[in-house]
Amino acid sequence: MKLMVINGPNLARLDIRDSSIYGDLDYAQLKSLIETSASAAGFESDVRQSNDEATIISWLHEAADAKTPVIINPAAFTHYSYAIRDAAELLKAPLIEVHLSNPMAREEFRHTSVISGVANGTIAGFGPNSYVLAINALKALLG
Ligand code: DQA
Repeated sequence: MKLMVINGPNLARLDIRDSSIYGDLDYAQLKSLIETSASAAGFESDVRQSNDEATIISWLHEAADAKTPVIINPAAFTHYSYAIRDAAELLKAPLIEVHLSNPMAREEFRHTSVISGVANGTIAGFGPNSYVLAINALKALLG
């Protein structure tokens, strides 16, 4: 089973982001953790990152057309991108939203997710392990 993992803006720069919020892994290490965990769960993963809203939207269209399940960390787009929400709504297979940090325990503007309403579920606050939990949740969901 294929799995698309989409990471939004600034996640490729975990090396210079606040490790007390986002954890100790840089993006290459996070990508490798996701690939290894996905493969152990029986998924063939395709892990991507973009800072560009339009690119993320076209990846969601691609996943919708291919009926591929998606794990997405929309990063700051979580809080305001109705365009990404509308594209996510087109998916035919499950969608899981993940966050490294727990946005609900942070600044007020992070308390809103415009994506959660079209996701099967959200996993947040466990650092890189959020992705591992999401992969296992997806596996359980797909039976
Ligand atoms: C994030 C949380 C967002 O609020 C933030 O803009 C990010 C990362 C997370 O993984 O904790 O860039 O999605």
